[in-house]
Amino acid sequence: MTKAFVVGHPIKHSRSPLIHGYWLKQYGLDGSYERIDVAPVDFGEFLKGFPSQGFAGGNVTLPHKEAAFLGVERRTSRAERVGAVNTLWIEDGVLWGDNTDVPGFMAHLDATLRTGWEQDVDTALVLGAGGAARAVVAGLQERPLKRIFVTNRTLSKAEDLVRDLRPGSSVALETSAWEDLGRVIPHAQFIVNTTSLGMAGQPPLDLDLSRAPGNAAVADIVYVPLETPLLAAAAARGLRTVDGLGMLLHQAVPGFRRWFGVTPEVTPELRALILADI
Ligand code: ATR
Repeated sequence: MTKAFVVGHPIKHSRSPLIHGYWLKQYGLDGSYERIDVAPVDFGEFLKGFPSQGFAGGNVTLPHKEAAFLGVERRTSRAERVGAVNTLWIEDGVLWGDNTDVPGFMAHLDATLRTGWEQDVDTALVLGAGGAARAVVAGLQERPLKRIFVTNRTLSKAEDLVRDLRPGSSVALETSAWEDLGRVIPHAQFIVNTTSLGMAGQPPLDLDLSRAPGNAAVADIVYVPLETPLLAAAAARGLRTVDGLGMLLHQAVPGFRRWFGVTPEVTPELRALILADI
């Protein structure tokens, strides 16, 4: 039997066991996927010890993604760019780390907006500068866009992100002050919120989309609620929308493939299963 885990602190709210459990059953595999709560002081030991406990690998969630980045022996180039690891596996005795939020976000965009959507996008606007924003920017940089603006309440964090992610990319990466959003929005054919604004219990993200290009697409990585005030405003304006649940589902695909040897599908049934839980 192949065993995998999700490790975090706290971990009881993670939906990853539902996703991987669904796929294990769907594909009739002899495997398990379990939650493991590990405090930050114990994480280094956990990282060294999990193979001898019979685990093939697992996912890493808050607050361990940076510690996992530092603790693995090899990293994918995506993980290297983002500076965080959310997926672990052993290959030829070597502990590897990847950041699957990057392909997860892009796969969800391609599925929702249809492959080739970026052909209509010169300029993208990313709101936020945390870990999720780094994964989103790294993914967008793989596409032939002209430029990406990053804006954040704390501008210095956007500046750090741009400094770290600019090298090696042909897409122009620039910061924009939050107060200047009104000037950027009319040029942005793709707008994505990676902040926690709009999440249940948080204030809404109040963007004036009235001057957004008519062909713009608006994405949110918040998925509780599924229709955030931002996505509702975009839909009311007739813009295409991309919800946050797909990233959660698609980021799970590469890990499942590594541990269990099957490329799983993100189906409407899986979506409905997770939706029923949130
Ligand atoms: P994640 O890993 O999900 O990206 P994070 O690193 O905590 O989480 O980042 C949260 C993002 O939401 C940050 O960009 C944060 O802005 P600051 O860097 O200024 O803190 C943003 N955010 C959170 N609450 C916000 C609010 N009330 N208004 C504007 N931005 C907010």
